[in-house]
This record gives sequence, structure tokens and C-alpha cells, in this order.
Amino acid sequence: MTEFTGNHILSVNQFDRDAIEKVFSVAHSMEPYARREKRTTVLNGAILGNLFFEPSTRTRVSFGTAFNLLGGEVRETTGMDNSALAKGESLFDTARVLSGYSDIIAMRHPAAGSVSEFAEGSRVPVINGGDGANEHPTQALLDLFTIKRELNYHGAGIDGLHIAMIGDLRYGRTVHSLSRLLCLFKNIRFTLISPAELAMPQPIVDAIKDAGHQLTITDQLEGNMDADICYQTRIQEERFPSQEEANRYRGKFRLNQAIYTRHFQSKTVIMHPLPRDSRMEANELDIDLNVNPNLAIFRQTDNGVLVRMALFALTLGVEDLVSKYERDVVWHSNKSS
Ligand code: NCD
Repeated sequence: MTEFTGNHILSVNQFDRDAIEKVFSVAHSMEPYARREKRTTVLNGAILGNLFFEPSTRTRVSFGTAFNLLGGEVRETTGMDNSALAKGESLFDTARVLSGYSDIIAMRHPAAGSVSEFAEGSRVPVINGGDGANEHPTQALLDLFTIKRELNYHGAGIDGLHIAMIGDLRYGRTVHSLSRLLCLFKNIRFTLISPAELAMPQPIVDAIKDAGHQLTITDQLEGNMDADICYQTRIQEERFPSQEEANRYRGKFRLNQAIYTRHFQSKTVIMHPLPRDSRMEANELDIDLNVNPNLAIFRQTDNGVLVRMALFALTLGVEDLVSKYERDVVWHSNKSS
């Protein structure tokens, strides 16, 4: 991707390292606004159509928050049942209509490829907020942004990192998109840990190998893995053919402080796209990890706002105007400390 302005963001395949660096530097510059130290009205008058046809909390709300923080307004549609898609309307028609009401659209839908299909009918840029088990490009960017920041803190960079991805690698779109982005870097070590039935899809395994990275595939945590990043995922029960099948894998890969100490380094960064399944039978990331300073899950969610602000600013071509439309914040904000 060389040009952001006016273009859709549908897949991580659109990004090269320069584009990623651009997003990260704009995201970094958004910090004073996200912390409410300053406000900007650069997107005053612009409308985001936030269309979530699949459950979402943080992705949907952080897209909306990011747009509001840039001074724009948000119109939201949630759930298939509440939209004309339930009356048989095509994605093309819905896109044609809703793009008349918005300046940019963020969209999530349960079918792989649906957001691209929607984008063909849209008259404004569309950002993929997750299409089935396929892709989740903005999550991958915020995950990579988090990895970069966390590793910087430990004096390291992304090149040469060792990442362990754990859990449902088959249906988990976040690990699909993140793996593809990491392929753009040098000498990455991937350790993919999942039951064989939930293994990473072959095209992504091939992409990792073709890019010359090291790859270990296993079905259990073994020994001390010397990973820099432990990326835990949720069993994507909504994508399994049956609930019984999903139940078979629930709770198979729990992480708590004792397991972390056994298998990881004391500086291994713990990530999860969230939501973590905290029900007893799953307990993917035990709350005893909440006091572990390497638990980065809530830094990930905060970083999501910065990255989504950057993507909006770039796509709407205002990344250099943000500070020109800056104001002081006059209310008390706990975020400014
Ligand atoms: C993820 C998703 O929806 O793919 N959540 C998110 O966007 N942060 C992961 C998940 O639902 O397990």
C-alpha cells in the first residue's frame, strides 16, 4: 500500500513495512488526544458508519471512540436482525445506501470475504473490522504496535522475535492477520501451539515458510520456550460446526502464573486479542496474571484507539492537519496523568 487516502483497508496484504511504519508514527502522534491532554476537531462534520453484524465490544467501541477523538460523529448499526440484510438485501445494496450516509465505514461480518464484497458497493472507504475466520487487519496492526512497544521496553525490536501463538489458530482471524504481518519482518520464530484440528491454515504456514522464518508446530506447551511473546487466543466457539465440538477444546490451553513460570521467561509478554473466556471451564488467562507486569492485554486495547485514529486520519487524508485543529481540554481528565 503506497496511498492510504481514499482507499479501503481490507487485508494485511495491502501493507508493506513502510506503510506499517507510517501507521505507527501517526498512531504515536495521537497519544495526547487519546490521553485527553488535547482535543482535535480535524474530522468535524465527518460521519463514521460503524456496522457490526457480529458481536463486538472493544473493536466496535474503539473504532467509534477513535473517530470521536478526531472530532467526527458515529452512526452505528449492530446485529444482522436489526438491519435490512435480514430482509434479504445484498451486501452491495446495503453498501451503496449506507455509504451515502457516511464518509467512511468500519464493518464486521461473520462471512469470510464479506467486507470486500461490501466494499465493492461502497462509495466511501471501508475498513475491515473482522470478516469471519478470515482477517482482522486493524487488530493485527494494533497487536504489532503493541509488540513493538513492549519489545522496545525490553531493548529489542520486532526483527528476530520469537512468538508463541496458542489455542484456536484455525478459526482465530487475529492470528491469521498478525502472522502475515510478521512475515514482513526478518528472522521471526513462530511456535504454533494448538490441537491438530485447530492448526493454523496451510496458506499461512506456507507464507511463513516461504518468507524463510523458523516454524515449530506442536500440540502442547513444552519445557521453557524462550518466547518473547506469548499470544493466547480464545476458542472461537461461534465458528465451530457444533457446540459439542467447541466444548472438546475448551480449557485445553489455560494460562496462569504457575504455567507461565514453567514455560516462559520472566520477561515474556502476554497478549490476547480479548475477550478472554473467563468461565471456569475455559479460564484462558487466569486473573492471577493481572498483577504480572508483562500482561499487555489492556495496553493492547488502549493502543487500539491510537492505531484506529491513525488509520482514520490517513484514510481521510488529514494526518498532517490534526494538530492544526487542536484545542485545550478544559475538563478534568484522569487520563492526562
Ligand atoms: C477478536 C475477534 O473478534 O476476532 N476480538 C477482537 O476483535 N479483539 C478475538 C476473539 O473474538 O476471540
